[in-house]
Amino acid sequence: MTRIVVFGSLNADFVIDVAALPQPGETILGTNFRTVSGGKGGNQAHAAAKLAPPQITVVMVGRVGDDDAGNILREDLANAGADVSQIQRINGYPSGTALITVDQLGTNTIVVSPGANKTWDETAVVGVPLEPGDILVAQLEVPTIAVRTAVQYARSQGARVILNAAPVDPTVIDILAHVDVLILNEIEAEQLLGLSDLSPEHINATRSVFAGDLVITRGGDGVTVASHTGVITNIPPHRVSAIDTVGAGDAFVGGLAVALALESDICTAARHGNAAGALTATVSGARHPDLSPQQLHTLIGR
Ligand code: RIB
Repeated sequence: MTRIVVFGSLNADFVIDVAALPQPGETILGTNFRTVSGGKGGNQAHAAAKLAPPQITVVMVGRVGDDDAGNILREDLANAGADVSQIQRINGYPSGTALITVDQLGTNTIVVSPGANKTWDETAVVGVPLEPGDILVAQLEVPTIAVRTAVQYARSQGARVILNAAPVDPTVIDILAHVDVLILNEIEAEQLLGLSDLSPEHINATRSVFAGDLVITRGGDGVTVASHTGVITNIPPHRVSAIDTVGAGDAFVGGLAVALALESDICTAARHGNAAGALTATVSGARHPDLSPQQLHTLIGR
């Protein structure tokens, strides 16, 4: 049994659809309002659990508050097929909350109040079963000190590490030596690695900082994969009717993780992630409730 252990945030997403995103100081009226489960960690675990075959277990390591949202966040992941035994309830804290606006083009703004997600310390993940063949997936919506030890622990157990360094924290640079696959969007690639463009010269110039597989998601422009062997591959986007891109990047990470756990090469894994992200953008909310391997393969083969 292979494990994908996702360590990260769980948030209740409060989403309002708006005609156009508000300017600073502006009050506007929105249209629909909904509360859905989110958080980068939870979204990645959800996509991975939906796509994983029976021989792969997806374990969520996360923290929720002592509130109704915490119960729902846990139940939603359990219903998706994830192992939720490592989700802890923290008394005295609310669950993480994200305030999200989505405009008519699917563009969004997100503000996160971390709540229980911020209570992790350097003991996070230590003791969670991980062994060679397993994969740790982490993001940066929980304290970087906790991610640092989780990454080091995973490597000490012989597991591979995928880091989605979002939102960017520059101090994460010293963890990168222990990361196998680094996933960033274009803005994050510039913020963390100084990649102002994705020319081979610029990408190769980052090799002194990160020598693993670098995957850069570029929204409507597809994905760029710079493998640890130095090969750069551009993967085109899928042409889908996107209505809400919130969580699309997280589904990308979940889809890529499942493919890597099945021993795909990094480009094949990125193609799986690309399809998972595209499908998630066609539904409202950060998670596609019906994401399935069949859907993924149909889109990839189209
Ligand atoms: O990546 C999307 C996620 O970011 C949302 O679900 C929200 O909770 C924030 O964590």
